[in-house]
Amino acid sequence: MKNIVVLVSGGGTNLQALIDAQESGYFPNGRITCVISSNPNARALIRARDHGIATRVISPKDYSSKAQYSRVLLEALFQEYADLIVLAGFMTILDAQIIHAYQNRIINVHPSLIPSFCGPGFYGLRVHECALERGVKYTGATVHFVNEIADDGPIILQKPVAIQQNDTPETLQKRVMREAEWVILPEAVRLFCEDMLVVKGRKVSIVNEPTHIGGTI
Ligand code: GAR
Repeated sequence: MKNIVVLVSGGGTNLQALIDAQESGYFPNGRITCVISSNPNARALIRARDHGIATRVISPKDYSSKAQYSRVLLEALFQEYADLIVLAGFMTILDAQIIHAYQNRIINVHPSLIPSFCGPGFYGLRVHECALERGVKYTGATVHFVNEIADDGPIILQKPVAIQQNDTPETLQKRVMREAEWVILPEAVRLFCEDMLVVKGRKVSIVNEPTHIGGTI
């Protein structure tokens, strides 16, 4: 059984998708053991508590440097015996010490088809504004392993979503969440928990037979 720690900052709809998947038995080999929020007012915290999941608030604002904040966050991840860390709308970029400690064990959901509309400054509604401004016909969502560069790590799953004529950033954001994010995030967690993901360089293969956790060949 893998301990899943979910990092959040806001509404927590992706967290909710994970909770719903867990409660329906979708990933029997994993269990969300803790939700850590960078924001004490995040609705995601209420969602976790409503389902009996332990919560912690670790806010960058409470620390004088990024390094100090990261040390505290890393210590919390160790205390929780995290096997998998899921960034579900987590708006703080993790520093190298955490990424190295959990290589190929941190996954992030991003609301575009990477490598479009991603990297520093692309988060939340801004991503959808840029997609509409650029006039793309399809956007979507990506779940990827996290490396030292924002939105650059090996891609696990992607799902396209068609743009509609009258889309606003808000309507598009909701459709990308419903049709893509809430589908591929639980699926990636399931594949990880079943040991079905193999990372080779920048590529992730999905294998039928369980392999060793997020392994690098
Ligand atoms: C989601 O759309 C997620 O993909 C995005 O923020 C939203 C959080 O919503 N994340 C990023 O933009 C990270 N680059 P939620 O709190 O309701 O899950």
